Amino acid sequence: MLDEVIRNDLISKAYEARKNSYAPYSDYQVGAALLCEDGSIYTGCNVENASYGATNCAERTAVFKAVSEGKRRFRAIAIAGGSGDNMGMAYPCGVCRQVLREFSEPSEMIIVVAGKDFEYREFSLEELLPESFGPDFKDI
Ligand code: THU
Repeated sequence: MLDEVIRNDLISKAYEARKNSYAPYSDYQVGAALLCEDGSIYTGCNVENASYGATNCAERTAVFKAVSEGKRRFRAIAIAGGSGDNMGMAYPCGVCRQVLREFSEPSEMIIVVAGKDFEYREFSLEELLPESFGPDFKDI
């Protein structure tokens, strides 16, 4: 369980990041706020592309920003998504779950899926990506 103050901070930062979403094709705006092991927070939004396939999800935007700034271990991520004012629960896609797996301990990494008005559901990465493949397998 994530501390309530930290959770609300991540959710409000995800709401804030969502405002920068570039989603002219799906009209589905997503924001994410990623808590690193050192306490720093990186945010991201989805960035779509006319080719569709080159679209990047909000979660991966946040992860790539953090890794490119030298951060390698993550503790939690909050995600907020929906179309316009119609906020729903935006669960991370399979690709984003796998990318989070690279830099976190599945049983300890917390995923907060946020809806409207700080409504949320909380999961471990292990729950959302069971029996996962990760960097610890690479020497086998
Ligand atoms: N999207 C995210 O950014 N994160 C998710 O967890 C689910 C999907 C984006 C990708 C695309 O821009 C739009 O939402 C619709 O799929």
